[in-house]
Amino acid sequence: MKRSRGNKCFLWTYPLWLRVIVTGWLSFSAVFGFYLANSISLQHSDTLIDTRREKMEDHDTFPLQKSDKHQSRTARRNLMIIAHGRSGSSLTGDIFNHHPDVFYMYEPLQTVERTHKNFNLDYNSLAFRFLTNVLQCKFAEPNFLDAWLDDIERYYRKPLHPRISQAMASPPLCPYNMSDARWDHRLCPKMTSETLGNACKNYNELTVIKVLTSRIPYNSLEKTFSACDSQDIDCKIVLLIRDPRAVIPSSLSVRFYEEVDGPAKLGTRMFSYKLCKQTEESLHFVKNLPAWLRSHVKVLRYEDLARNPLEEMRHLYKFAGLSVLESVTTWLNESTHPTKSRSNMKIQGSQAAFTVDDAQAAINRWRWKVHPYEIIIIEYYCAHVMQLMGYRPVDRSHELQANITIPLVIEDYEAKDW
Ligand SMILES: *[C@@H]1O[C@H](CO)[C@@H](O)[C@H](O)[C@H]1NC(C)=O
Ligand SMILES: *[C@@H]1O[C@H](CO)[C@@H](O)[C@H](O)[C@H]1NC(C)=O
Ligand SMILES: *[C@@H]1O[C@H](CO)[C@@H](O)[C@H](O)[C@H]1NC(C)=O
Repeated sequence: MKRSRGNKCFLWTYPLWLRVIVTGWLSFSAVFGFYLANSISLQHSDTLIDTRREKMEDHDTFPLQKSDKHQSRTARRNLMIIAHGRSGSSLTGDIFNHHPDVFYMYEPLQTVERTHKNFNLDYNSLAFRFLTNVLQCKFAEPNFLDAWLDDIERYYRKPLHPRISQAMASPPLCPYNMSDARWDHRLCPKMTSETLGNACKNYNELTVIKVLTSRIPYNSLEKTFSACDSQDIDCKIVLLIRDPRAVIPSSLSVRFYEEVDGPAKLGTRMFSYKLCKQTEESLHFVKNLPAWLRSHVKVLRYEDLARNPLEEMRHLYKFAGLSVLESVTTWLNESTHPTKSRSNMKIQGSQAAFTVDDAQAAINRWRWKVHPYEIIIIEYYCAHVMQLMGYRPVDRSHELQANITIPLVIEDYEAKDW
């Protein structure tokens, strides 16, 4: 048990020279591409799996089913939604934010982004540390406490934030919940590490965080999962994936990257390569998990959620161990199938927090909006991910791209059976 806890922060328990070598090796492998990176990630998987197997075996040594249950009840339950930007992760997160048993944080690693320059630590190690704290409902790390707490106070329950955390904006942290007409963030007293930890731990049975892949520590799903490597933490992951032909042009339109070199579309080439390589590494990690750990990870296609939000919501809740509530069902049904005019669809309490979109229409929108030349580029760099996830290439066929009666999202795909 000791070993598994020590393991969890192995990077900074090692001397600087070793960290330098590890970092150097990682950059080296990043530069020299796929094969090297794959073999490293395999090696890491083994370490992680060994640690986790050890943890599991410890569980198994409890003589009675009962004590085993007791053990797992003390571990904090968490769920992480991980996705590239423009993949529908805000909607997926909202599905959890609307559940009263959930302590939700939208992009909590933004807190680290905003504060890490105050400390003499690099983003990745600090993000990893922050994560292990949040996953235990701990908001009391002595060295970082003030900066983190100030940031949380400033962002997570005020209308200027894209997604207010309902848990942080409700009792016991605020006098009223957000569906109450009297709700006003100005009525909420300042949070302390105690009140925040208490609300997380004792008023909400599950912590859900949604994090973009670009923010996860070391850009690695595996490393992120290893933040859960403690007896006190139980984690599940939803890896949300969307058709890169929708994600990449949308990322350009919100300036996640810039086009470079005009007609050669160098920006799109580089971004497509990077995005799909990272997705492929995440899928590779999921595929190689042992069965008992595999059941902690759900690979979700955005298109399936968009086509059938209520059904996918039930699957997600079942995966997370939450009960399905009528209030959430009604809210989701309304926000994914807007029948009223958009101006009436604002979710109460926060103008910024509406997810209204005709989700079904969102699946095929790229087919008319994106230039065929860009599709050729994306399909070139993302061929393998698309094959694994059931996205049918148009392969330079203008008819296939434009005729939306021909589905390009295939029901049965390889990763579905992993
Ligand atoms: C929110 O507050 C209202 C009024 O106090 C109450 O009726 C409702 O049940 C509360 N909702 C939740 C999810 O606690
Ligand atoms: C969803 O909304 C539609 C109308 O917009 C309604 O006909 C349907 O019954 C609703 N379904 C649920 C489960 O609330
Ligand atoms: C679109 O595809 C369908 C099914 O293959 C076909 O029947 C239809 O004629 C096509 N429409 C156009 C405008 O080409």
